[in-house]
Amino acid sequence: MALSPLLRWGIFVSAITAAVFAYSFKQHQFLFTTSEYDPLPVYCYRSVRTHDAEHPSAECFSVVDGLFRHIWTREDRDSLHGVRGVDVSVSDGYAIPGLWDGHGHLLQYGEFLHSVDLFGSKSLDDVRDRIKKYLAANPGAGTKDHWLRGVGWDQSAFGRMPTADDIEEDDELRGIYMMLDRIDVHCSWVSQAVLELLPEEIPNVPGGDVIRDPGPGVFCDNAIDMVMDLWPKPGEEDKARAVISAMKELNKVGLVGMHDAGVTAENARLYSKLANSPDWTVRVYSMLECAKRNTFCPEETPRVAHQNGMFGLRSVKLFADGALGSWGSAMLEPYSDHPWTSGSLLINASALINVTKSWAREGFQVNIHAIGDLANRNAIDAFEAALKQQCGQQDLLECQSRHRFRIEHSQIIHPDDQKRMHALGIIPSIQPTHATSDMKYAEERIGPKRTEEEAYRMKSLLDINPILGSDFPVEPPNPFQGIYAAVTRKSPHTGLGPDPKAPSEGWHTKEALSLDEALMGFTRNVAYGAFIEQYAGVIRRGAFADWVVLDAPLEHMEVEELRTLKVRETWVGGRRVYSRDEEQ
Ligand SMILES: *[C@@H]1O[C@H](CO)[C@@H](O)[C@H](O)[C@H]1NC(C)=O
Ligand SMILES: *[C@@H]1O[C@H](CO)[C@@H](O)[C@H](O)[C@H]1NC(C)=O
Ligand SMILES: [Zn+2]
Repeated sequence: MALSPLLRWGIFVSAITAAVFAYSFKQHQFLFTTSEYDPLPVYCYRSVRTHDAEHPSAECFSVVDGLFRHIWTREDRDSLHGVRGVDVSVSDGYAIPGLWDGHGHLLQYGEFLHSVDLFGSKSLDDVRDRIKKYLAANPGAGTKDHWLRGVGWDQSAFGRMPTADDIEEDDELRGIYMMLDRIDVHCSWVSQAVLELLPEEIPNVPGGDVIRDPGPGVFCDNAIDMVMDLWPKPGEEDKARAVISAMKELNKVGLVGMHDAGVTAENARLYSKLANSPDWTVRVYSMLECAKRNTFCPEETPRVAHQNGMFGLRSVKLFADGALGSWGSAMLEPYSDHPWTSGSLLINASALINVTKSWAREGFQVNIHAIGDLANRNAIDAFEAALKQQCGQQDLLECQSRHRFRIEHSQIIHPDDQKRMHALGIIPSIQPTHATSDMKYAEERIGPKRTEEEAYRMKSLLDINPILGSDFPVEPPNPFQGIYAAVTRKSPHTGLGPDPKAPSEGWHTKEALSLDEALMGFTRNVAYGAFIEQYAGVIRRGAFADWVVLDAPLEHMEVEELRTLKVRETWVGGRRVYSRDEEQ
């Protein structure tokens, strides 16, 4: 950048003034000034983990306009002290780059925070009790215009699928309007009042399941849509409130950014409006979901390159199949515990190829939800076809480095297809806590051989930069729990593995990551997956000034401490958005 001589002189004079000013400015953390006499914050910590390969550790950094400016290592900290007269008093803490969740659901998480929490519910009575408590605290919920919403039930705790009658038979709950999502949000349980809004003969739906045994009330996958269509949608104010509540909780666990795995065009426009407000404290990279699932809808799509660095949208979410918990994921071979089915695709192979190619041609990153090994195969086929369309038969790996197609969940992948993923560089987007939540039943569903060779891989996918996340609200958003699950392959909630006879053993630990590898999954790889590796997941000149302060250096922590770790502070764009001290 060429500066005029006059301007250069001006900067020189101001710099001297600034240094003098700084010398008398000894207040903690605000240590010297810019040419405009504004205090230029310098932050020093006991250690700073940078994730910058050239300077992996540092002691201090400064921030200008929401970006990191100077980074000082231990050696040049002395020069900072001597020459410029800057107070380098050290904050009592250890800084790491701000963490990102590679796959979550922002609005749903906010709505979850304002709805009935059914996670861990142990019986139908437990569910009914939680609903009653919620209704007592939220008068007006459960009416025709304001349905009661909740998430987190699992029929395995009830011994059968729940029904509308389970609610209707309770005197206190009779007549309420309610829609409760299963723990994996692939099924929804409604009350009698909602059933009565549907046709008397409820039709079957391709790619969906209307549960009729032991009674009506539960709708899965594509069948959920007919209930969703009736649900009175929250207004913009409700949504804004939900999103901001979600962001507060995310900041609290050290998250500075997230990939929003499915946003409607309408909500994307709302986000784009809200992203300029000071309450918007989490960077969001969204995947568009068309009004009609698995379609091509470029005309309704707002494209947002990089608004303030706080919101971006250049990717689309498609769904190849459902979830393992409800036997909805599409497998090449039948389920081991339900040998009469191998799950179902939500879109056939040729249609998936077609829609993937259409989005790729428009310049969108395509992110396909795939759990079962058939769904993963179809996703890889679709990506390969799209890469060939975009780049001919040339170097497809290089082509993929520009398109960065990803598979959301990548849970069960046939060995042949794992090889193809490596060869094409297709990015796996993985939730380590899904592995530790599913380990209780996954082996029953798919048997030992497929579990061993295909399921919940992490370590063996390292060369293709796995993105890590939580899928909140399906799992809690705390990335340290995700890191724990990735490193130990044990449940972060209990600290135990799946075998009651050897509970200290993790599940298939051959696929466990090291702490460093897991951290990269929540920083560098997530940034790469959103095309912002220059800006996020790293403490380096010019990157977003996002960091997290911990009480102890991660690398010296006992791994069990990760389960209960509480961050001290979270900073986004040079602004402190969470402080544990102020919370108390
Ligand atoms: C795949 O799905 C598309 C769109 O739903 C349909 O037109 C086509 O016939 C299907 N193809 C096969 C082979 O089933
Ligand atoms: C392929 O996708 C385009 C939209 O991109 C659509 O118009 C067309 O009908 C699709 N063709 C098939 C065979 O599904
Ligand atoms: Zn998800």
